Amino acid sequence: MQQGRTTISKFLIEQLRGSEDQSDLAALLIDVTAAVKAIASMTAKGALGGFLGSLGTENVQGETQKKLDVLSNDAMIQACEWGGLVAGMASEEMDDPYMLAKEFERGPYLLVFDPLDGSSNIDVNVSVGTIFSVLRHGKIGDPTVADYLRPGVEQVAAGYAIYGPSTMMVLTVGKGTHGFTLDREIGNFILTHPDLQIPADTAEYAINSSNERFWEPPVQRYVAECKAGKTGDRGRDFNTRWIASMVADVHRILMRGGIFMYPKDAKDPSKPGRLRLMYEANPIAFIIEQAGGAASTGRGRILTVQPTSLHQRVPVMLGSRNEIERLERYHREYDSGEDKPFASPLFKDRSLYSDDLRA
Ligand code: F6P
Repeated sequence: MQQGRTTISKFLIEQLRGSEDQSDLAALLIDVTAAVKAIASMTAKGALGGFLGSLGTENVQGETQKKLDVLSNDAMIQACEWGGLVAGMASEEMDDPYMLAKEFERGPYLLVFDPLDGSSNIDVNVSVGTIFSVLRHGKIGDPTVADYLRPGVEQVAAGYAIYGPSTMMVLTVGKGTHGFTLDREIGNFILTHPDLQIPADTAEYAINSSNERFWEPPVQRYVAECKAGKTGDRGRDFNTRWIASMVADVHRILMRGGIFMYPKDAKDPSKPGRLRLMYEANPIAFIIEQAGGAASTGRGRILTVQPTSLHQRVPVMLGSRNEIERLERYHREYDSGEDKPFASPLFKDRSLYSDDLRA
């Protein structure tokens, strides 16, 4: 290691020194970095690695699994199951929580992850990522599904890796949000982006506009105003970006501000949002809040939503604080009927879209 450079292990040990989680949490996060390096190596090989394409199977969400989804899931399990640090693991790619093999000691944490977020981008060589969240288990023995169903405020650590032009890890243990870049020559993550801060204001928003007709009126109002730019109520121009890898869109927001929305929509009434609460929304919300941003369902803080199932979906709006507060105000005004032009009966009258997600 070059002098003066802070490796991720040194950083974590220093951040956690004297805390309840001291060495165990640092050790677990270092195991996660081992999985991330393995996934980074597979994604970087592209077509040469023979890892691209679909497996022909579906995950519990009904999404086609890519070879790399499954390989990345295996990499996380292999890196983290043996060390006596986790009691169990749950992933987007597994219907039920993963039960550790008998020979492994049970540890104090539950690890929840999305091994390859944005995997539809893999075959077109666009950035993808891994998202993870750590909860305390606090019990003896193997966890049940109910043990995982804890609100995001209880996370003790969360982070993501982004496999882009460079591989980075961004994480928090509740003491700010920090970014590390993989130095491939030495095989280690080096602190390159300490204390990330999201500016409170922005002129950039990310949303999949093809869903516009399915959005709720407050989101339609917000986006309409952004699009009107200088000629509308906002009096200034906005810019849009949509990568379709949450990790990549969130990373841009951490680097230069902005907001990301995957709101509730009426496209498929069985899904109150696209993103998963436990292994996408919660860890990213923790990271965003620790960087001074805000993360909301539109009707409440994501981190206080009580999960009712492992693979639950949730509306997500996060990033620059003042814009998220504006979106929450638009939802309040719509719900109270104050915002007449946007109070469409389509959304108001359907119980499915009314109260269930108001945290
Ligand atoms: O499953 C999650 C995800 O791939 C996110 O990473 C991304 O933001 C979103 O889905 C993209 O959704 P869509 O394909 O609807 O744009």
